[in-house]
Amino acid sequence: MLPGMAAKRSAKPHIAIVGAGNLGAALAVALQNAGYSIDQIVSRPGRALQRAQRLAREVGATASVVRQVQLEAEVVWFCVPDSAIADAAESVADSVNWKGKIALHSSGALTSDELATLGRKGAAVASVHPLMTFVRGSRPLLNSVPFALEGDTRAIRAARAIVRALKGQSFAIRKEQKAAYHAWGMFSSPLLCALLVASERVAAVAGVGRKAARNRMLPILRQTLTNYARLGARESFSGPIARGDVETVKKHLEILRNVPAVREVYIALALAALRELPAKNRNALRGVLSRGTKNWSYKSGS
Ligand SMILES: NC(=O)c1ccc[n+]([C@@H]2O[C@H](COP(=O)([O-])OP(=O)(O)OC[C@H]3O[C@@H](n4cnc5c(N)ncnc54)[C@H](OP(=O)(O)O)[C@@H]3O)[C@@H](O)[C@H]2O)c1
Repeated sequence: MLPGMAAKRSAKPHIAIVGAGNLGAALAVALQNAGYSIDQIVSRPGRALQRAQRLAREVGATASVVRQVQLEAEVVWFCVPDSAIADAAESVADSVNWKGKIALHSSGALTSDELATLGRKGAAVASVHPLMTFVRGSRPLLNSVPFALEGDTRAIRAARAIVRALKGQSFAIRKEQKAAYHAWGMFSSPLLCALLVASERVAAVAGVGRKAARNRMLPILRQTLTNYARLGARESFSGPIARGDVETVKKHLEILRNVPAVREVYIALALAALRELPAKNRNALRGVLSRGTKNWSYKSGS
């Protein structure tokens, strides 16, 4: 170890992670790689505890059960589902003296108020949301990832230092902006996946199976993202709406009668495109698409 490194490492607060799910696992590993000591991985009993034990071994922590835990770390990071944050906070509220400690959660939609129980006991609280997707088995790099921060000044200061160490980009958000912020996040990944699975349904109508569709779509998807990164949405927009090709859009609407739920996605997105993006024959296209919204037949199973 280089001289001074031990001192630098010890300046970082110790961290406990509550919840060893998708975010908790990725975050624990990223924090450890950034030089933080992860003291405890806290979970509910049962299968969750086994996951917590595996993660704890990986990051040199101990695994503990939520109602029995003695929290030693200065920072306690709740990585449980949004609906469980307040309960999880409640269940560790008496496990330690919270004065001087920091409690964080990572919900995009909920505010630091979810941790009010701990705030009343002396903790500084904040919500710290990475605008990134964490799924089972993936550990995305957090460098350059934006983190939306909101909460008490002391907790925000600590969270900013952690985000900096992770090489992420922190930015402030107001409580009243969080719902809209998270709806935006929803479009950036979960609804993008919904669009991709809808595309696969259309590929099936064209006789192309799911796996082949995925492989054949990847080059155009990647180029679209490359264009979007370089040029923005307007300059990346091509196809029959940009060209004003009304007859082609009519053909699409006709064939998509075979997959009514997907047809409705097509129409909703095409109307959004007409509102926001460059288009020719705008009025004729709007008429064709609007007629398509009559008698929408969408049911979740169709
Ligand atoms: N996944 C993402 O892409 C992502 C991105 C940004 C932010 N976030 C935020 O990160 C948080 C966690 O999401 P996630 O996707 O990681 O969820 P997840 O994969 O479902 O993991 C949640 C973990 O919390 C545990 N848990 C549930 N209730 C608990 C309780 N009361 N006490 C202790 N542990 C409990 C669950 O274990 P058991 O249920 O098995 O006990 C599970 O291991 C959420 O606030 C979410 O909004 C997620």
